[in-house]
Amino acid sequence: MKHETLEKNIGLLAFFMVIAVSIGGLTQIVPLFFQDVTNKPIEGMKPRPALELEGRDVFIANGCVGCHSQMIRPFRAETERYGHYSVAGESVWDHPFLWGSKRTGPDLARVGGRYSDDWHRAHLYNPRNVVPESVMPAYPFLVENRLDGKLTARKMQVMRELGVPYTDADIAGAEAAVKGKTEMDALVAYLQGLGTLIKSKR
Ligand code: HEC
Repeated sequence: MKHETLEKNIGLLAFFMVIAVSIGGLTQIVPLFFQDVTNKPIEGMKPRPALELEGRDVFIANGCVGCHSQMIRPFRAETERYGHYSVAGESVWDHPFLWGSKRTGPDLARVGGRYSDDWHRAHLYNPRNVVPESVMPAYPFLVENRLDGKLTARKMQVMRELGVPYTDADIAGAEAAVKGKTEMDALVAYLQGLGTLIKSKR
């Protein structure tokens, strides 16, 4: 009888549905904030050097995440192609994380070390130079845009406030580390650092 009242009153039903779904969601989500496996960086992980941190911003600014995910799922089809599946500890210092979900191009979570720097430069300058059938846009302007490094130290400070363990020396040397480098240098450094701590089988 009581259940009938609930089923015939859409407002009441929606209210209790929200409560039921929230309990289900919370029991799955809340524990993740307290588990080492999701919160602790993996062994040997170091904060991104200044140039790679700037490269990450170039990656974000140019919308690369719109076509490339950085999250290898634990399925055979993925691990055969990309290498070891992604683990949470690899991205604990990524703010915001760039897991993405759209794969017009391949996943980049373990692209570090897969190609030479020169390959990346040629590819980013015009992907058709090295992959004739590629539909990826060309980014020739990256070689012209120079970084002045004025904001790099500030960016590192913000990251430190968010829990990334940059040292005072890292921050003090930030501007000098990127000044005069191009966006291309930074982006290639960033790509080469992706996912290298966990060795891929490829
Ligand atoms: C419109 C979608 C699109 C965008 C935007 C895009 N890419 Fe791509 N990317 C692709 C496609 C498709 C491929 C596969 C063909 C090729 O290698 O060019 C690819 C391949 C790659 C590869 C080679 C990966 C591998 O394992 O072979 C890298 C590295 C890469 N992209 C980096 C970038 C970066 C960095 C940016 C941003 C500056 C970017 N892409 C933007 C579509 C895109």
